[in-house]
Amino acid sequence: MNQAINVTGQLMPAVGLGLWKLGLDEVADTVYNAIKAGYRHLDSAADYGNEKQVGEGITRAIADGLCCREDLWITSKLWNTFHRQEHVQAACEKSLDDLGIDYFDLYLVHFPIALKYVDFNDRYPPEWIFHPGDEHPVMELDAVPLSETWGAMERLVEGQLARKIGVCNYSAVLLHDLMSYARIKPAMLQIESHPYLTQEALVRTAQSYNIAITAFSPLGALSYVSLDMATAGDSVLAEPVVIKAAERAGVTTAQVVLRWGVQRGTAVIPKTSKAERLMENLSLSDFSLTDDEMTSISALNQNRRFNDPGVFCEGAFGKFHSIYD
Ligand SMILES: NC(=O)c1ccc[n+]([C@@H]2O[C@H](COP(=O)([O-])OP(=O)(O)OC[C@H]3O[C@@H](n4cnc5c(N)ncnc54)[C@H](OP(=O)(O)O)[C@@H]3O)[C@@H](O)[C@H]2O)c1
Repeated sequence: MNQAINVTGQLMPAVGLGLWKLGLDEVADTVYNAIKAGYRHLDSAADYGNEKQVGEGITRAIADGLCCREDLWITSKLWNTFHRQEHVQAACEKSLDDLGIDYFDLYLVHFPIALKYVDFNDRYPPEWIFHPGDEHPVMELDAVPLSETWGAMERLVEGQLARKIGVCNYSAVLLHDLMSYARIKPAMLQIESHPYLTQEALVRTAQSYNIAITAFSPLGALSYVSLDMATAGDSVLAEPVVIKAAERAGVTTAQVVLRWGVQRGTAVIPKTSKAERLMENLSLSDFSLTDDEMTSISALNQNRRFNDPGVFCEGAFGKFHSIYD
């Protein structure tokens, strides 16, 4: 059974399927198989470039009677090029259309970074670079206050396109600021979090505002090895305390790390393309970690961030742009 997280009055399954980097040829079947295995929470984004195929998997699962739309919690995210108020609703509707649904359970601002607008007809998803065909393409920022974007996000709730709205990759200071002007308060903060990056202060700050937390990249380095942003040796799954807890509980090391995330009160959204791992990553309720295990795993924290625009934007997109100081 999948535990649930309270998102300002709505229950969201604590384990969801992450959809970043699932290929176009595999994602529809993966979504279908995930729903068949019991997943009811999907973490999508325009930027993942696979929302049409995700939608095929959802549509097929509903047509086959595996679930109905109301059983699913579907999250998507506003890409950085659509931060201006006149673009937010169109971007949300494009994602809804691609997914074949008519509302989001949760719609998030993907990054506190506004990039120059790119029309759907020019390129979709627009990604990070403005003119990809240029000899030296670079990321181009746009001067859009986050308050303008949030006002347009609020109108999505009023227009019943999104039931809840929230943010990703915000710091505590950005949350304090957001809370000062939000008419509709953010229901969710989605951040990178795993035992090497516990983000205790940020989690505590969000919880003090009744903002739920979703941990992305909950398995740590694994997502970043194929991107050359980490090595297999950076894996938290090889930590002796994690191995010991896995042996004690009779589960895998991945299950221990995911369970640690859920047991500390965050949702986790592991991505996998492997059928056997779908069930493994979902099966976190038949065991628990002891207080000592929770403490030892939390003590692995190194403030080690794998997904940091201040690091990857300069090398990949020709622009230094730090958001975490
Ligand atoms: N808001 C944001 O800015 C943001 C940023 C990053 C990610 N996200 C979201 O968070 C989701 C999860 O993060 P992520 O995809 O970066 O990383 P992740 O889910 O922590 O890790 C995925 C990696 O772990 C492997 N893996 C999955 N289950 C495993 C298991 N049981 N044992 C061993 N290896 C396993 C996967 O390989 P296989 O596929 O081969 O199994 C893949 O290489 C994303 O898919 C996306 O939806 C959001």
